[in-house]
Amino acid sequence: MSATPAAVARSLREMLGADGVLDDPQAAARYGTDRTALAPPDPVCVALPRTPGEVRAIVGLARRARWSLVPSGGRTGLSGGALAAHGEIVVSLERMNGLLAIDPVERSITVEAGMITADVQHHAAAAGLFYGVDFASAGSSQIGGNVATNAGGIRVIRYGMTREQVRGLGVVDGRGEAMELNRGLVKNNTGLDLRHLFVGSEGILGIVTTVTLALHPPPGAPAVMLLAVPDFASILEVLHTIRSALAPNAFEFFGHNGLLRVQQALGVRPPLAVAAPFYVLLEFDEQDQRESALAALDRLVDAGRVLDGVLSQTLAQAQELWRLREAMSETLARWRPWKNDIALRVPQLPAFVERAQALVEREYAGLEVVWYGHIGDGNLHLNVLRPEDADNAGFAALCSAGSQRIAELVAGCGGSVSAEHGIGLLKKGLLAYSRSAAEIAAMRAIKRVFDPAGIMNPGKVFD
Ligand code: MLT
Ligand code: ZN
Repeated sequence: MSATPAAVARSLREMLGADGVLDDPQAAARYGTDRTALAPPDPVCVALPRTPGEVRAIVGLARRARWSLVPSGGRTGLSGGALAAHGEIVVSLERMNGLLAIDPVERSITVEAGMITADVQHHAAAAGLFYGVDFASAGSSQIGGNVATNAGGIRVIRYGMTREQVRGLGVVDGRGEAMELNRGLVKNNTGLDLRHLFVGSEGILGIVTTVTLALHPPPGAPAVMLLAVPDFASILEVLHTIRSALAPNAFEFFGHNGLLRVQQALGVRPPLAVAAPFYVLLEFDEQDQRESALAALDRLVDAGRVLDGVLSQTLAQAQELWRLREAMSETLARWRPWKNDIALRVPQLPAFVERAQALVEREYAGLEVVWYGHIGDGNLHLNVLRPEDADNAGFAALCSAGSQRIAELVAGCGGSVSAEHGIGLLKKGLLAYSRSAAEIAAMRAIKRVFDPAGIMNPGKVFD
């Protein structure tokens, strides 16, 4: 017999104190969801531990009472991974947000998992260093959630994804075991590296409590270029020419309708004199690279690969140009778009996009589709905007069917149905397009090792 909700909340209060448990409807609504709002949140309560020991105690209670746990960070996820819609206990790490250590010689930082990503960036900067992962929701997302989803963002082309930054993890797994994975070491060849199983595990193995991250020397002053390109194939020509001439920190793209939406939302004028189907936004360290960038731009214009372009002259201009890309997701959120988050090997991109555009016109006829993404990493975000008067169930059914067709195409090109947003609930039905039956069976077996009672974020990634 499971314990009653009231008994669970009472036991949690005894462990965590009165302020360590929230069970009012507002807290349930706030902590029980992410940005997808896929289903109405309905957790039994929210637990707010302050220490790894308290996290262990919560897991122990959940095992004894046979109650499921949903780990919760900044709830900025886009796949429903943090959704608690079935009476689970939400475990929010927000009170575990301290700086534990920062070492400028080793170039590392150790923080509690509930630290906001932007605070990690600020602590690194205060020590004269740089944290390499960044994205528009860095001001709200938490580092533990970034680890659990292997967050990517805008600087992957230079620094890699969150996985590449993680030197060590403190975790409490579904058995209630606390483990220090890799201990912050740079070199450690002592068998299987369990740290990497927890990176991107979306909370199905356990809860991340502390994180040790690699830091980098700070980049130079940024220069940003916005380029109008005549077709998708030209984007890759631009990537090749730019990379041959300099080292970009970011290489992003978006379509014309996306730009129009953002211009309208920000109330800004068109950034270029020429309108084009696609735009590339790239950033590089200005020092010693400005001349090479301008020479590369000349070559691209002469070859007809760029129709128009602008290079920032000041930091303020660089930031204004970045706003056009960074505001994309927030601008489109008004239409509660259906999100496809695709990864392909870069050489596969033009053929994929050509076929995907034909598919999109057929599957999403009459709907507005906005393309953008981290194209230097082969990551395309394909957003289908929900019409104002849409019947929600009909829209979801149509988009879900469209995503299946896209996933077939992605699979045929050897790509991934989730580049950086994770599988969560939203993409469970698509997992088999990117992972073989043998891989999924291995994932299930690994979950049973770390979470034999099946209490950790059940129903996410796979059933
Ligand atoms: C982005 O690239 O802006 C983020 O992944 C969020 C999104 O896709 O909407
Ligand atoms: Zn993205």
